[in-house]
Amino acid sequence: MQHPQPPWTPASWRNKSAAQLPDYDEPTALAEVEQRLAHSLPLVFAGEIETLRQQLAEVAAGRAFLLQGGDCAESFADFHDRAITDTFRVLLQMAVVLTFAATCPVVKVGRMAGQFAKPRSAPTETRDGVKLPSYRGDIVNGLDFTPEARRPDPRRQLRAYSQSAATLNLLRALAQGGFADLHRVQQWNLDFLRASPQGARYRDLADRISETLAFIRACGLDAATGPQVRQVQFYTSHEALLLGYEQALTRREPVTGEWYDGSTHLPWIGERTRQLDGAHVEFARGIANPIGLKLGPSTDPDTLLRLLDVLNPDDRPGRLTLISRMGADRIDTALPPLIRAVQREGRQVIWSCDPMHGNTLEASTGYKTRPFARILDEVRCFFAIHRAEGSYPGGMHFELTGQDVTECLGGAQAITEQGLADRYHTQCDPRLNASQSLELAFLIAETLKDYRQATMKDEHDE
Ligand code: PEP
Ligand code: CO
Repeated sequence: MQHPQPPWTPASWRNKSAAQLPDYDEPTALAEVEQRLAHSLPLVFAGEIETLRQQLAEVAAGRAFLLQGGDCAESFADFHDRAITDTFRVLLQMAVVLTFAATCPVVKVGRMAGQFAKPRSAPTETRDGVKLPSYRGDIVNGLDFTPEARRPDPRRQLRAYSQSAATLNLLRALAQGGFADLHRVQQWNLDFLRASPQGARYRDLADRISETLAFIRACGLDAATGPQVRQVQFYTSHEALLLGYEQALTRREPVTGEWYDGSTHLPWIGERTRQLDGAHVEFARGIANPIGLKLGPSTDPDTLLRLLDVLNPDDRPGRLTLISRMGADRIDTALPPLIRAVQREGRQVIWSCDPMHGNTLEASTGYKTRPFARILDEVRCFFAIHRAEGSYPGGMHFELTGQDVTECLGGAQAITEQGLADRYHTQCDPRLNASQSLELAFLIAETLKDYRQATMKDEHDE
């Protein structure tokens, strides 16, 4: 049953209890920063956000697939065009593999240009008997284990804003300025990948795409393929955790009167902040952006239905992406009851899978890592469960980087516990590297293709 909601404003979350927000000890400086942000330009615009929502409605209807990925946390120190370009490039490669091998349109969304705030399991961290506040992402405090670095500094929000703006500017240039032209599909292969089995497999696929494009051109149909071949639409997303920052960038669209969070196209609510009566859900319910909602293994089906009522009372397709992050050992028991509850109520959602956050463990060498085999397992289970339940597995959510890091165990490069130390660069959670990301894309493309063929056949047989 739906209950009328009290009035929403961009600030109404302030009357609710908010998990995971930093304790700033300079209220005046914080207010000044939020004022400055409120007078800054939004980074994304209502029209783009609406286009994304329409594309996500196609995903909800089973006609497209959502690919969302990028850093666990962006950082001030690791801010280079090279890193951004490489991550963008891997996402393009993955998308092209999925589009071509599974013949399915792919909606591309980066965890980029704003993914700075991190929820933490514990508010403090203790090392050698010294206790300090936990690191909460560069938008809040610093990673170094010193009292100065760990003190939340509101001025960091301004730096995060300008780094997001610059990142988005580069992403737009890459998406529209020729780099993403499908005629260059071969050049997206990263140098260090060329010699690997994944790189070779990608090269074969790229050859077939190049042949297809040449064939289209030879038929005189080149012009008819339009901008889709020369450019891509690329969207941004981040966890809408730091609500003062999100509020400050939220603007009313004058024609429709709708409010949009202008900090990103697709904000999501994290597993630790999805309390039904909490501040994060309150903020998200009033913005018109499509939103993501992370669902861990403790999610109760009735609570999920109440969240759907609050976050998407009109059941608009594309509005809500449910991102399950159960863990390979829990997905079999935790996901089916949620799917059944949503189906029973006939609600429109996108089911996406984050196979990263439920599969984190500590290696014997002390590194926080994720075994590639477990990630694969969760992905396979996700598809199998949706097949059995008759629902559509519509998307994937990854922490990945285009850099050649060694943060997740296994994969074709067989990264070992000892090997983790070689190039372990993450600020926060372990990411898939380019080779592991491509390996997954091929696997998902095959599974998705099977799924689509089988369900088309089922429909045909009925
Ligand atoms: C994340 O996506 O970085 C994250 C913290 O995820 P979750 O909220 O699912 O734990
Ligand atoms: Co993470």
